[in-house]
Amino acid sequence: MPVPQSLDPSYIPRHVAIIMDGNGRWAKRQRKPRLFGHKVGVDSVQEIVEYAGEWGVEVLTLYAFSTENWKRPADEVGGLMGLLKNYLQQELTRMLKNNIRLTCIGNILKLPADVRETLQATMQETAGNDKLILNLALSYGGRAELIRGIQNIAEEVCSGKLSSADIDEKCIDSHLYTVGLPDPDLLIRTGGEARLSNFLLWQASYAEIYFTDIMWPDFREEAFRNAIAEYQSRERRFGKTSAQIKSG
Ligand code: FPP
Repeated sequence: MPVPQSLDPSYIPRHVAIIMDGNGRWAKRQRKPRLFGHKVGVDSVQEIVEYAGEWGVEVLTLYAFSTENWKRPADEVGGLMGLLKNYLQQELTRMLKNNIRLTCIGNILKLPADVRETLQATMQETAGNDKLILNLALSYGGRAELIRGIQNIAEEVCSGKLSSADIDEKCIDSHLYTVGLPDPDLLIRTGGEARLSNFLLWQASYAEIYFTDIMWPDFREEAFRNAIAEYQSRERRFGKTSAQIKSG
């Protein structure tokens, strides 16, 4: 699967982050239980991971479960955890074959022990892979991530390891779950809502944001290609003027 002709292969976003929204509504429209939407959503995950790797995306971060999602009915939470565990077990062979490394961000201590163990085993087994980082946000919240980072920085200041003057962007980056990863270039939200929902609040400062009405179970190759094409058509100025950017 080479990079499609409609995309510029030299300007593929390094890091794509996705809020996979709309599974429940997609299922409801078909008079099916919400979990059916999540199940078909896993098929979208498989497809998008495959294309991301083939097209040269380096990091794909998927918002699979937020800190707020724990408030959902227990059967939905349990169903999502089951889907996650199955996905990891079923995809290991493909991750190894396709040189995909699995990482995660979030408070994974809150995950059920069997899911956490499968996750940790998959991360270990794929640790040597380097084509695509598939980074799952699990029990993740941007504010909780910032609180944890700030607490760690405060402890280091109190113990004398760090001085307050050392606190800069690099320092904060290095105290977040995403340490070592590039910031997202493109942030996609499916499902028709236009908000960030506590996702990568610090890291997405300069991300191009792409909202689409397509529900996550329907978000497949063409929709992903269109999102990247839109990214490629935008001018990223990072606070500078258009003329400054064009003069290099
Ligand atoms: C949001 O849709 C989606 C989620 C809360 C879960 C996303 C999970 C998956 C796609 C499957 C498991 C993930 C992996 C990585 C295997 P929603 O339920 O909020 O939809 P709604 O807004 O229509 O109710």
